[in-house]
Amino acid sequence: MKTIVVTGGAGFIGTNFVYYLLSHAPSCHIIVFDKLTYAGNKFNLQKALRRGRAVFVKGDIASPSQVRRLYLRFKPDYVFNFAAESHVDRSIEGPEAFVRTNVEGTFQLLEAARLHWAGLSGRTRAGFRFLHVSTDEVYGSLGPHGCFSETTPYAPNSPYSATKAGADHLVRAYHETYGLPVVMTNCSNNYGPYQFPEKLIPLMILNALEGKPLPVYGDGKNVRDWLYVEDHCDALWKAMTQGRPGEKYNVGGNNEKTNLEVVGTLCRQLQRAYPAKDNPALSKKGLRDYGNLVAFVKDRPGHDRRYAIDASKIRRELGWKPRHSFDTGIAATVKWYLDNRDWCRRVQEGNYGRQRLGLLKK
Ligand code: NAD
Ligand code: DAU
Repeated sequence: MKTIVVTGGAGFIGTNFVYYLLSHAPSCHIIVFDKLTYAGNKFNLQKALRRGRAVFVKGDIASPSQVRRLYLRFKPDYVFNFAAESHVDRSIEGPEAFVRTNVEGTFQLLEAARLHWAGLSGRTRAGFRFLHVSTDEVYGSLGPHGCFSETTPYAPNSPYSATKAGADHLVRAYHETYGLPVVMTNCSNNYGPYQFPEKLIPLMILNALEGKPLPVYGDGKNVRDWLYVEDHCDALWKAMTQGRPGEKYNVGGNNEKTNLEVVGTLCRQLQRAYPAKDNPALSKKGLRDYGNLVAFVKDRPGHDRRYAIDASKIRRELGWKPRHSFDTGIAATVKWYLDNRDWCRRVQEGNYGRQRLGLLKK
C-alpha cells in the first residue's frame, strides 16, 4: 500500500486528484498537506475525509520544520507537489507570495525529500518518486504557429510563470546533482469542478448567471489549450507510476480556443441549461442572451498571446490521451457550477468578489 502526499490537495486540481486516487488507486494512503490559502478549502475533501480515505494536515510547504515533520511522520512513497500560488493576475498585484510558495516552498519540499530518500533502502528507496506539477506558461508565448515541446527554452513572462520556472529548475537540479527520482509535468489550462472563480471559465459562468459583465481582456483573441481536469489527473498518475525519473512530460488537450470562443461556448451552454429569458438577473435588464454581457476590458499586462502543447511524448511513452472532448468537458463543468451554487458562495465568502485584479497601478 503506497503512502501518497498531495501538497495543495485542497485546491482545484489537487481536490480532483484526491478523488481520482480514491477511484483509481483505492488502496493507497492519502495525506493532503495544504496551507488553506484563499484558493484552498478543506470542505472540498469532505467526502474523502469523512470516509477516512484521506488525512488532512494544515501546513506550509515553505516552512522547513513543517515539511520535515511531514516526511518524518508519514514516510511517503510518492509526493505530488500541487501547492502553489496559481493566478497570473494576483502575481501581478503581489509577486512576493509567489516567490515564497512556488520557489522557496518547492525548494523546502525537495530538500526534505532528499533527506528522506537518503534514509531509505531497498525497494522502498527504488520506488520513491517526487512529482512536480508545473505549467506550460514557463515556456512563454507562441506566435500563430508551433507548439511547446519538452525542449522548448524557458521564457516566462509573468511573476507567476517566472516562479514556476524557478521551481522547475530546482526540481531538475535535484535530479542532476543528487539523483533524486523526480518527474515533472507541464500542463496547459485546466477546467472542471472546484476551480476557484477567479479563473476565466468559472468567473464567466458565475458572472453570466448573475447578469454581470463578462470581462474579456484585450481583443479576446489570446489562445489557450484547454484540458478537462480529470484528464490531467490521469496524466499525473501515469507520469508518477510509469514515467522515467529525471524526465519531464508536456500535457495538453490539443484543444486550442480563443478566449472569445470559450466565452461564446459558455454562453450557449448556459442558454440551453437556463435560458436568459427565464433568468431574472438578465430578463429584468431586457437581455435575452448571455452573450449580450460580453465586455471588452483593458488587457492583462504582459498577456501571453498563445499557448499550445505538443503532448506526443506522454502519448507515445506512457499511453496517455485525453478522454474528454471540449464539448463534453464544458457541458459537465457548466452543470457542476449550476448544481453547486452553495460551493461558489462559500469559497468567495469574505475574501473575493470577482473584482478585476492585476492592473498596474500608476
Ligand atoms: P489552486 O490555486 O486552485 O490551488 C493551490 C492550492 O495550494 C490551494 O489549496 C492552496 O491552499 C495551496 N497552497 C498555496 N500555498 C501553499 C503553501 N505555501 N503551502 C501549502 N499549500 C499551499 O491551484 P490549481 O489550479 O489547483 O493548480 C495546482 C498546481 O497545478 C499548481 O502548481 C499550478 O501551477 C499547476 N497548474 C495549474 C494549471 C491550471 O490550469 N489550473 C495548469 C497547469 C499547471
Ligand atoms: O496554462 C496553464 C495556466 O493556466 C496555469 O499554470 C495557471 O495556474 C492557470 O491560472 C491558467 O493561467 P491563465 O492565465 O491562462 O488562466 P486565466 O483563467 O487567468 O485566464 C485564461 C485566459 O482568459 C487568459 O488569456 C486571460 C483571459 N481572461 C481571464 C480572466 C480571469 C479574461 O479575458 N478575462 C478574465 O476575467
